[in-house]
Amino acid sequence: MAIDIHKKKPILANNVGGLSGPAVKPVAVRMVYEVASVVKVPVIGMGGISSGEDAVEFMLAGASAVMVGTANFINPAACVDVMEGIKSYLEMYNHSSVYEIIGKLELN
Ligand SMILES: Cc1cc2nc3c(=O)[nH]c(=O)nc-3n(C[C@H](O)[C@H](O)[C@H](O)COP(=O)(O)O)c2cc1C
Repeated sequence: MAIDIHKKKPILANNVGGLSGPAVKPVAVRMVYEVASVVKVPVIGMGGISSGEDAVEFMLAGASAVMVGTANFINPAACVDVMEGIKSYLEMYNHSSVYEIIGKLELN
């Protein structure tokens, strides 16, 4: 929520809004990690993904797939960039499939 202090009214037409984009990513990665650790169904990661590296973080945390929202407003090719980024990461570490990185986070 944001308030116009001179009009004494909310700035957003809907009065309140949601938080998305890079600011929510660390929280979202943790949520995916915690949920994926205890369920046997596929988890889809979302929240602040704008690059292949972001998507890989979610996959290492346990996401079987990812979604891209806010980044599309900044870069209409965001999804293509994310897909190419995932491919580059897999090639860099000689992985033949995303299945080789899903849930493969090694805790400190
Ligand atoms: C314009 C916009 C509309 C959204 N509409 C919905 C919605 O209808 N239902 C829903 O569950 N989440 C909705 N979300 C939240 C997204 O699904 C997502 O959880 C959130 O934006 C975080 O991902 P992001 O950082 O990739 O955008 C919306 C987000 C945006 C930016």
